Amino acid sequence: MKHILLFILPILIIVAIVFTIFGIFQIRFEEEKFMDDLKRKAKTVAESIELSVRHTFIDNDLKSANRLVESFQKRERLQGCAIYNKDGQILAITERISDWKQKDKPYLNDIFSAKSPRGALEKFKEYSVYSYILPVLDDENNILGLVEVIYDTSYMFTMLTELWRRISIALIVLISLITVIAFLIQRQIFILPIRRLTEWFKYFQKGDIDKLRPFEEKGELGKLISEVEQVALGLRVARKVVTEEAYVRVQKEEIWTQAKLRDLIHAKLGENAFLVVSNREPYMHVIDEITGMFKCIRPASGVVTAIDPILRVCGGTWIAHGSGDADKKFVNSKNKLGVPPEDNRYILKRVWLSKEEEEGYYYGFSNEGLWPLCHVTHTRPIFRETDWQMYKKVNLKFAESILEELPSKNPFIFIQDYHFTLLSKMIKEKRPDATIALFWHIPWPNPEVFAICPYQQEILEGMLACDLIGFHVQFHCNNFLDTVNRLIECRVDTEKFSVIRLNKETSVRTFPISVNGYINSDITNVQEAQLDKIRKELKLEDKIIALGVDRIDYTKGIIERMLAIDRFLEKYPEYKNKFVFIQLAAPSRTHIKRYRELMGEIDELVENKNWKHSEGSWRPIIYLKRHFSPEEIKPYYKLADICIVSSLHDGMNLVAKEYVSSKDDLNGVLVLSRFTGASRELTDAIQINPYSIEEFADSIKFAIEMPPQEKRKRMESMRRIVSENNVYRWAGNIITELTSLKKN
Ligand code: G6P
Repeated sequence: MKHILLFILPILIIVAIVFTIFGIFQIRFEEEKFMDDLKRKAKTVAESIELSVRHTFIDNDLKSANRLVESFQKRERLQGCAIYNKDGQILAITERISDWKQKDKPYLNDIFSAKSPRGALEKFKEYSVYSYILPVLDDENNILGLVEVIYDTSYMFTMLTELWRRISIALIVLISLITVIAFLIQRQIFILPIRRLTEWFKYFQKGDIDKLRPFEEKGELGKLISEVEQVALGLRVARKVVTEEAYVRVQKEEIWTQAKLRDLIHAKLGENAFLVVSNREPYMHVIDEITGMFKCIRPASGVVTAIDPILRVCGGTWIAHGSGDADKKFVNSKNKLGVPPEDNRYILKRVWLSKEEEEGYYYGFSNEGLWPLCHVTHTRPIFRETDWQMYKKVNLKFAESILEELPSKNPFIFIQDYHFTLLSKMIKEKRPDATIALFWHIPWPNPEVFAICPYQQEILEGMLACDLIGFHVQFHCNNFLDTVNRLIECRVDTEKFSVIRLNKETSVRTFPISVNGYINSDITNVQEAQLDKIRKELKLEDKIIALGVDRIDYTKGIIERMLAIDRFLEKYPEYKNKFVFIQLAAPSRTHIKRYRELMGEIDELVENKNWKHSEGSWRPIIYLKRHFSPEEIKPYYKLADICIVSSLHDGMNLVAKEYVSSKDDLNGVLVLSRFTGASRELTDAIQINPYSIEEFADSIKFAIEMPPQEKRKRMESMRRIVSENNVYRWAGNIITELTSLKKN
């Protein structure tokens, strides 16, 4: 509408100006014509009665003068006649203008002296009148008296006003007509074709080829549409070719690489985009607290670490909560942006949540309820009804956002984690043709533990709307199957590893997540200068360096790690001054009380233990509490002789795998909690029970003293496992499984 106005407003202004000028001229013309008529009429009438008046003066016949003036009484409108003697006194006057007598008439003297007629507009009461005065002369050219004819002119103004009114009405009608016609023309010429083009693009985007109709637009717009059509056709054909070529290559290649995954996705998903959903977004725009400038960070999250490389390779769309304080500044009108910001490889669509939604759904139900419930690390889960309601509301909000993005046929959706247990059911209600996988990145507890959740029924029902549910390890799969078997009405097929409920089958499988492996990893390209800088800054020269990299979370066993280091130094004081433990700790979920308490506990512990063991400037623990980007973490992995992962319970733990994949010199030892998913694969790590401080302390000593040969052997074997079971394989297996379930 705004555009139409912009288009027709100049036309309307011109029409209005032309009409006004025309109106002014027309009125002037009418006015002049009327006055001319009036003057002529007044003159004729005055002259016609002059003769009779002359007799009146000569015979002094007042009666006939009165008759004469009274004949005007009967005429329409206000008209009248007055007869003056040669002294300028009124002898007779038409009754209806008798008040004219009182009017001061200074001009009479001029008429008497000039002996010539006078016509002029005068004011009479509230009227405007035209007065024409004719001197009556005898044969010797002496003035006998005057005859005055008076006409009311106010009706002329009424007439002119009426004329203005008609001109204005005509103008309004014309403007309305022009507006309507312009709107119709614009709609016909621009809006309808553009609307059709937009519709067409939407279908094209969603891969709905059946609805694609060729355009028959002519003219310039037709040419543009035709060009667009050619580009779209080219794209479609190219996509098809890529899909077919990819299919052939996937069958040939053995090892999982970026290229193989890309080919698999093209071959299996074809023109359908890969759609990933998670709570945590892979790129977050925030305002730097120190500089006040906008910056883009990669959040510390296993989900982000694993899935970002996949989408970088395959493209697609990732839908996540836009939780950065500057996120809104970087999205387009559909809340989307290309990421990574410096080299757009896929689309990130941000979903906005209110503070109340974030509080109830994320902090409350997900992280004070489900997180401790599934990790079983003796932090009591809290289930609040208000949080649950918010959790449902936010799941619905995400469902709506996802539905907007789905292609029109057979969409594939890959949901991440415990934040979205209800999502697949909500999507399937609207799009039963969607194939949905849910990957559970955290542990799944046994049925007794899960049974304490007051919303178990709805959660399990929601999850079983998925076609595929993935866990990192078989143990979690088994726990899940036991849980559904015990807690809801369904049939568990132990042969096929699936659950059947209400005629719907959900496959439950193990897919150990990983990192991108060392083959194509650039993690080894860390500059020596960078390492030197850290060595100097942290006084690490000649020290045995152990490293921990974690979000500050009670499941990560950070407290136990500090206690183990303390015990290690107590038991083996010969390592004082020789050993340093660096903890990179990213503050996490700090809005939750338990997390704030934990930060305080760790601060205190670090302070105590450093004080207890310090010698000179040496401190055993370097605690770096801030967010570290993946690039910043790389040199620490390089420096670390030992990496300690001491989670009390962890779905997988990708720090362990990142460390292994970064150790291309094979010179490193991994100390790994046996309660992590990673411990099932990385059997060459030194496995520990983090609750057993004594064993933990001894393991640190064991790691330090391990012969180089042994270190190399173990590291080599772990690196082979990580490189083979890399994240491309993880995604490839899930997609292969998912597409094999696809209904036709
Ligand atoms: C775990 C979860 C992820 C989560 C990450 C970080 O790894 O499985 O889904 O993103 O923790 O937690 P946060 O709450 O900061 O996203």
